[in-house]
Amino acid sequence: MIARIGSDTRFAAELLRKGEAVPIPTETVYGLAANAYDESAVLKIFRIKERPSFDPLIVHVGAKADVGPLVHELPPGADRLMDEFWPGPLTLVLPKRTAVPDLVTSGLDTVGVRMPAHRMTLELLRDLAFPLAAPSANPFGYVSPTTAQHVADQLGERIPYILDGGACTVGVESTIIGWEKHGTTLEGAWYLYRPGGVSVEAIERVIGALGTKAAQIRPIAPGMLESHYAPRKPVYVGDINGLMRAHIGLRIGSISFRSPFPVHKGEVLSPSGDLGQAAHRLFAALRSLDASDCDVILAERFPEEGLGRAINDRLRRASVSR
Ligand code: TXA
Ligand code: MG
Repeated sequence: MIARIGSDTRFAAELLRKGEAVPIPTETVYGLAANAYDESAVLKIFRIKERPSFDPLIVHVGAKADVGPLVHELPPGADRLMDEFWPGPLTLVLPKRTAVPDLVTSGLDTVGVRMPAHRMTLELLRDLAFPLAAPSANPFGYVSPTTAQHVADQLGERIPYILDGGACTVGVESTIIGWEKHGTTLEGAWYLYRPGGVSVEAIERVIGALGTKAAQIRPIAPGMLESHYAPRKPVYVGDINGLMRAHIGLRIGSISFRSPFPVHKGEVLSPSGDLGQAAHRLFAALRSLDASDCDVILAERFPEEGLGRAINDRLRRASVSR
């Protein structure tokens, strides 16, 4: 089976209704989608991705009204966050109803929900009578795909059809936050689980400061694993000049923010210094260096603000120099 790439949302809907898994575009990265209420459809996602079943999936909805059947309680601020950032790259981890299969949430009593900001996928979701569980459409642990071709390159032989909605505009995955109660009290706070397409600053303008706590002892989910989003070639993050001296004699690929470096193959993500543009280009740059004849990938640290936080997070997890 070799996947056909096309923009036929009706055909994609037909496959999804039959219980198939179909890659779909979103503004962040491509997702591998299936009916969230159909366990055997969801199981296909895990098989195709070779994803361990302890890694929960995000459920995508086409309307705010679709959240009710998934979630039994909206924590303080959830409504405002949805109004402010949906459709868009913000995932809310919320207390789940039993109708959501355990396979989707890896047995957790919470479910991650978001409404993607992509015209074609919203159309698809509004056409379907069920929400779509979808992780990023890459083999587990590898860099997420931001074009239909990226999906075809790696999963093309395992799926019938890829819904092509063009290159993802945001380019890094959604920001994930979750509400956690403090003990048995009614008090609680929102915590950042993964920096992403919506900046922490923007979230805090809506609901105030996110909770802080000592580094998590155990990741809640593998998206938070230290090694994730990784190319096959070794990636080092830090001062590129210094790293170049440490890798003399090797063919070096570099990923830098504004300025080029004298290396074998250099990717400059945003000459004008725009972190949004840099995020948009990050994964394609990692893929292209990984596919090139470079021996090693050196990346610089980005400003730790706005989308720079998500870029640094992905580079750190991609790197061997954590
Ligand atoms: O932008 C995105 O979020 C993309 C597009 C396709 O929507 N999806 C995505 O999914 O990045 P994935 O599976 O690659 O990452 C989902 C991560 C999990 O690894 C986990 O860290 C977190 O979301 N997650 C999902 N449900 C959770 C839950 N109930 N509690 C804690 N974390 C959860
Ligand atoms: Mg992923």
